[in-house]
Amino acid sequence: MTTKPFTLRWGIIGTGGISTRFSKDLLVDPSTRGVYDVAHKIAAVGSRSVASAQKFLDTIAASDIAPFNWGPAHGVLDGAKAHGSYEEVYNDPNVDAVYVGTPHVYHHANAKAALLAGKNVLCEKPFTLDVAELDELIAIAKEKNLFLMEAVWTRFHPIAFAVQDVLKSGKLGKPVRMSADFSMNFEPDTRPDSNRMIDPKLAGGSLLDQGPYPALWAMLAFHHHPDNKDADPKVVASYQRIYERSGVDAASHWIVEWKGLGQAHCVTDMAASGYNDASVVITCRQGDLVLNFPPWKPTKLSIVPHGIYEPGTIQERSVQEFTVHPGDGMHYEADEVARCISKGLKESPRVPLAESRITQGWLDAVRRAGGSVLKDTVGTAGK
Ligand SMILES: NC(=O)c1ccc[n+]([C@@H]2O[C@H](COP(=O)([O-])OP(=O)(O)OC[C@H]3O[C@@H](n4cnc5c(N)ncnc54)[C@H](OP(=O)(O)O)[C@@H]3O)[C@@H](O)[C@H]2O)c1
Repeated sequence: MTTKPFTLRWGIIGTGGISTRFSKDLLVDPSTRGVYDVAHKIAAVGSRSVASAQKFLDTIAASDIAPFNWGPAHGVLDGAKAHGSYEEVYNDPNVDAVYVGTPHVYHHANAKAALLAGKNVLCEKPFTLDVAELDELIAIAKEKNLFLMEAVWTRFHPIAFAVQDVLKSGKLGKPVRMSADFSMNFEPDTRPDSNRMIDPKLAGGSLLDQGPYPALWAMLAFHHHPDNKDADPKVVASYQRIYERSGVDAASHWIVEWKGLGQAHCVTDMAASGYNDASVVITCRQGDLVLNFPPWKPTKLSIVPHGIYEPGTIQERSVQEFTVHPGDGMHYEADEVARCISKGLKESPRVPLAESRITQGWLDAVRRAGGSVLKDTVGTAGK
């Protein structure tokens, strides 16, 4: 006997790049990634203009290329409403969960309004501008008994589980040090002042936009390691290079220490590319785990033993290739939200709020110690 999947009804707010990618992944047949317990519907889209919301819906409905053509043909968009404001999405009775795909500076206000209207929330990274904003969201979600999660989609990719499996097996020994580098040349000089990566009013710069990726690999490698005893790993050193045109950070470097275990060196750069073959390197006592660029969706896990013989450790070099199944790879986080809500969970065991709070704290620490124009910016908590 097959049971009907639990179908989560999404309300999307913001009609930009990431909302488009996320929504298109909701159109992919869940069975193509082996998922049968949950499914998705897009119930509403909200934009600052109704014309833009309608255009967004029309565009994704016209998806005629596999795997995105499955959804329109199988009712995923049936009855979807185009709203000319975000508030209408928060108050739409057909919406169970709101996806926040607006620029960073609005995440707190948008997620807060959605929670106060009684909706579950999946909020894009960086979760908020600062920890105070995040604490307020966590408190409201708790009080209202609602689900809340940061959209750290990469944590759900098969390669992320594979990395943790090797670390937990102990077959390379304990992790001692790692580097995680999200450097990518966005060619900022060619972008207008209003671009969200450049504009301080939109909390531009590399740290807040790119920082969640090195942070997630550091969390998986060290924080989740069975030998970790440090519940509150801190930034012990940091540096920011400033993008003079607008004063935001062009690059950020920081080191986080897990006392008694190891250190992660995290790097973001929006004006220079990094080393494509080794975006993330996790050095263990007996060898390295190496992931290729991009750190948001690496496809290759290389294991490079140091050549020191220890019984039970990996001695052979290997390279394993990974895919994210048909689609872009954002469907896994959507599945997680649906699954958690179907079980009555208020946060994801894979992306717990306490961990988002730790990584948000690192971003605060690096920003406040740096020299960008956002150094002393405080968010909208309490407003
Ligand atoms: N998970 C990932 O891989 C990933 C990738 C890229 C971005 N992101 C995150 O997603 C968020 C949005 O990024 P994006 O690249 O999608 O940005 P984008 O293309 O500029 O879209 C942002 C959308 O937010 C809405 N918005 C509301 N107020 C705005 C304002 N004052 N200025 C500009 N847009 C405004 C707009 O939608 P309406 O006009 O419809 O209101 C706009 O289309 C960011 O926080 C970013 O960090 C995540």
